[in-house]
Amino acid sequence: MTAQADRPWAIRGEAVRQAARACATGVAILTTKSGDELFAKTVSSFVTLSMDPPLISVAVTKHSPLVQAVSDSGRLAVSVLRVGQEHLSQRFATPGAGHASGAFTGVRTRIEATGAPVLDECLSWFDCTLYNVLPGGDHSILIGLPVAVASSEGEPLLYHEGDYHALTPLTVPSAPCPDRAPTAPGVRT
Ligand SMILES: Cc1cc2nc3c(=O)[nH]c(=O)nc-3n(C[C@H](O)[C@H](O)[C@H](O)COP(=O)(O)O)c2cc1C
Repeated sequence: MTAQADRPWAIRGEAVRQAARACATGVAILTTKSGDELFAKTVSSFVTLSMDPPLISVAVTKHSPLVQAVSDSGRLAVSVLRVGQEHLSQRFATPGAGHASGAFTGVRTRIEATGAPVLDECLSWFDCTLYNVLPGGDHSILIGLPVAVASSEGEPLLYHEGDYHALTPLTVPSAPCPDRAPTAPGVRT
């Protein structure tokens, strides 16, 4: 089979990756505990997927040990990082670091509901049971059903064009939100 027949798509993954670098994302640490072992990985693919039932998803390289660990343990937690936690993003983006013994040394975590570790001082967190694992090309899409969540005030850590950033608020005239029904003047929602 030729390379073209093997890979009939017109656009290479690298071109998609390059275009996607323009999209700013938040940064989170995906964790689980399988048996006695802790696993962690820096992710930017975290999204809220559904409200009813409430579901979140994260896309993880399918050969990552985390995929098997989450499948085995049936639990995952996502800790959304704040500005000042760039070192945690770097640590858990290092190949092998999220599974190496001692990877969590100096990183304060706690157990909330499922047993997957939640990072202290993160901006928000979602502690989930595993709802489904779907194929996504060279990634696996881990879908979690949150059983405990929390958020706090603070500045989210952003990732854009390969660098970390903080928000710069913009002042714009308020516009109607398309998701919400119009309300009569003076009615507070
Ligand atoms: C900001 C940032 C976001 C990332 N997002 C993801 C992601 O969503 N999914 C993923 O599989 N890897 C993501 N990575 C890469 C992994 O963190 C990294 O490749 C991995 O932890 C390496 O360890 P491993 O090879 O032991 O799995 C991201 C890295 C960074 C720095």
